[in-house]
Amino acid sequence: MSKIKENNPEYFTDWKYAPSPESKDHIRLQNRYELFINGKFVKPNSKKYFDTINPATEEKIAEIAEANEKDVDLAVTAAKNAYDKVWKKMPGKERAKYIYRIARMIQEKARELAVIETMDGGKAIRESRDIDVPLAANHFFYYAGWADKLEYAFPNRKPQSLGVAGQIIPWNFPLLMAAWKIAPALATGNTVVLKPAETTSLTALKLAEIIQESGLPEGVVNIVTGFGNTGAAIVNHANVNKVAFTGSTDVGKIIQKAIAGTNKKLTLELGGKAANIVFEDAPLDQAVEGIINGIFFNQGHVCCAGSRLLVQEGVAEILIRKLKDRMETLIVGDPLDKNTDIGAINSKEQLSKINEYIKIGTNEGAEIFQPSCSLPKKGFFCKPTLFLNTSQSHRVVQEEIFGPVLAVQTFRTVEEAIEKANNIPFGLSAGIWTDKGSKIFNMTSKMRAGVVWANTYNKFDPTSPFGGYKESGFGREGGLHGLAAYLNF
Ligand code: NAI
Ligand code: MG
Repeated sequence: MSKIKENNPEYFTDWKYAPSPESKDHIRLQNRYELFINGKFVKPNSKKYFDTINPATEEKIAEIAEANEKDVDLAVTAAKNAYDKVWKKMPGKERAKYIYRIARMIQEKARELAVIETMDGGKAIRESRDIDVPLAANHFFYYAGWADKLEYAFPNRKPQSLGVAGQIIPWNFPLLMAAWKIAPALATGNTVVLKPAETTSLTALKLAEIIQESGLPEGVVNIVTGFGNTGAAIVNHANVNKVAFTGSTDVGKIIQKAIAGTNKKLTLELGGKAANIVFEDAPLDQAVEGIINGIFFNQGHVCCAGSRLLVQEGVAEILIRKLKDRMETLIVGDPLDKNTDIGAINSKEQLSKINEYIKIGTNEGAEIFQPSCSLPKKGFFCKPTLFLNTSQSHRVVQEEIFGPVLAVQTFRTVEEAIEKANNIPFGLSAGIWTDKGSKIFNMTSKMRAGVVWANTYNKFDPTSPFGGYKESGFGREGGLHGLAAYLNF
């Protein structure tokens, strides 16, 4: 039980929202999903299927085909044929029409996609409805606009497509990551073999249905489902010309080694351990909302999550008190409920990894704070967690936890904040909170991070590039930079 609750009994009387579950009546799901190869849904050569479950209920949703090397080969061959015979010859303005059509169809099916995303992956419906699905559509719209303007995007250079792009994506933003990968590849005239993560294949397969319905020429996009070895078969296929991967740093390293010495192009978007840095002159209530949004919404399943907090000493006490108060009000539970802030952890494995880190943090001597909320009996849930009094060498400060766990440190000077923020193996993002513009510019130029937000956090737009430094990977997605990753000059 938290001190705050004890101190303010009337503030936290048991006020609750009435349940407000999003309806599932409108969604269409099959019991079994096949592989999407050459424009058709086909049975896997492996003859194997695996279950995808709802992490909030532990119930099976559907069976998903497991692609083996033979299936991957069929998909890559389909993509290569489509590239050679159709897609690379098609004028940009014609390619754009298909990409626009896919964007519009995502918008038309937004409700269905949001509900399926939440059921399959566990994220709160508010996130999938307001962030994942609209941003996925926006990515297709944005890149559709570039398809016939590549010479203007890169003046005095001769942009040329690469061929077949092999794309492997994680489970934290299943549909959005598919959009980030597929949209720029198509706009630049490449064809695609994409593999979603094994716990969250459904929205990629719904996207396959959209792509089929859009009339996109057969084989231009192929979606194969399966585990790590399916991904490895894509990476290692001789006819794949470019690999784009988002996921763990460990697998990123395996992929980088696997393609060393080939002429495959590579972009890696890996882990992160971003700091929100709050200065004494910051708008504190706004900062608290940004911190909460940065690490707790979406269960901390965000590579650019603000999983560290650096707060200047003079405001540390008040900021942490405000943060604890706000954490007491967070609603953890049914991801389909529109009031839920923190949904289910994506898988049992991920939950045990997070719980392991919660033990590590406690054993390292950090002070733990969790709000007094209760967790649902079934499903994989985790309380939002603060670790106070952490030091730079603590594992909960250095390592990516990928859960709703925030490590808090204090600092005195600007230099100390920069030093602490940068002194980790990752460099994906950071957040600066201050009233002073000059401090923002100073900090943003000194952060070794791909994205720096000022007085906000986790804001995305297809026009702005995203990617990391150090062990967070290399290459950029989004914006003009995201086009260059799919072109030769
Ligand atoms: P992962 O990196 O194993 O999985 C990501 C994707 O890579 C999945 O589609 C998976 O099937 C595929 N994959 C796995 N092994 C492969 C291989 N050898 N070759 C090609 N593809 C392969 O991530 P996992 O195990 O699901 O999560 C572990 C940790 O990774 C998390 O706790 C988190 O710290 C981090 N992570 C980071 C993400 C990010 O966006 N930066 C996303 C997901 C996880
Ligand atoms: Mg699932």
